[in-house]
Amino acid sequence: MNQALEIIRLLGLAKAVRVKRRFDEALPHVRGYAVCSCLWALLETGALDRILAPGGAAVDALRAGGRLDRRVLESILTYLDGVGLVRVEGGQVRPLLKLLRLMAEPRGFFELTYAYEPIFAKLRDLLTGQARYGRDVERRGKYVGRGSGQLCRTLPYPVLADMVRRHGGRVVLDLGCGDLAFLLFLAEAVPSVRCIGVDVDAPTVVYAREVLAACPHRGRLEVHEADMFDLAAIAREHPEVDAVTAVDTYHEYLSEGEEKIIGLLRQLRGWFPRALLYVGEFCKQPHEKLRRSPTAFLEHHLYHDLTNQVITTAERWRAMIAAAGLAIVEEKVFDMVGHGYFVVR
Ligand SMILES: C[S@@+](CC[C@H](N)C(=O)[O-])C[C@H]1O[C@@H](n2cnc3c(N)ncnc32)[C@H](O)[C@@H]1O
Repeated sequence: MNQALEIIRLLGLAKAVRVKRRFDEALPHVRGYAVCSCLWALLETGALDRILAPGGAAVDALRAGGRLDRRVLESILTYLDGVGLVRVEGGQVRPLLKLLRLMAEPRGFFELTYAYEPIFAKLRDLLTGQARYGRDVERRGKYVGRGSGQLCRTLPYPVLADMVRRHGGRVVLDLGCGDLAFLLFLAEAVPSVRCIGVDVDAPTVVYAREVLAACPHRGRLEVHEADMFDLAAIAREHPEVDAVTAVDTYHEYLSEGEEKIIGLLRQLRGWFPRALLYVGEFCKQPHEKLRRSPTAFLEHHLYHDLTNQVITTAERWRAMIAAAGLAIVEEKVFDMVGHGYFVVR
């Protein structure tokens, strides 16, 4: 109390209140950076999942298991204890409810942001033109797949799985399957379905194979390293494919022009003449709308912009589908989450 009075005496009440309020306003921004950096370090070393395990973990075991530096580990845990995410007591660390909630549905948001962290680490060089995306810095492919897979479990996968089930899909080819998150969801939701995943990124496919090995539905799933622009061999091996799904994969090529996607849709029709195509894609939100309601799509748009990925509107997806000579048989666009789903024949 005396300290507060002394500050008011020195600064005056109005200034003391203003300074306090402005620091309070600044804190979430700075803290977001510090908390994310700490969580990512724990995530990448496997320590985060050990802390999240029932009962938490012994700090010594955490350090020895991950060969972690004791002082740095203790600094991170003390900080996370201070902000109310973990409790460190008697040599044990356990997650508090706040951390458990952050690592439930929003976990993918942290993982997806970690995928783009190398870009933020080089942002000054990108800004001054000393570095170029793709040449000097890349996003982390594995975490793109993991993060987007976790995020899509909340709405995109339930919507698409429902569409595939209602349209009678039995053998599903998923393009840009990432860590197989959609196909695992689908195999769980539709017990009769058989699934083939393809992804062009070799480390992602290695990770997908690890995920598959531990999956109870592995008998109905397979994964291949393949480029979706070159699927002639897969089409020959699997003429029974009757559903070709792609969740947030096509837009990765929009920077090369809509013709690239239109050509791909035509080719897919040629390779898999019996199949319905299921397109799940981001639908760009007008900036004025995001300004009024600054949802996580602001970060999403920023990550895409910085890595030269183009996001387009629902109208343009409809136009590309039409230009490929295909027809939309069902459509659901959710403006609230900036995502659209099209079943195409
Ligand atoms: C944004 S992620 C989406 C991952 C996944 N569909 C999901 O639901 O989480 C895009 C994925 O497409 C993959 N990809 C990009 N180009 C591809 C291509 N030409 N052929 C196959 N996969 C591709 C990437 O490696 C990445 O895993």
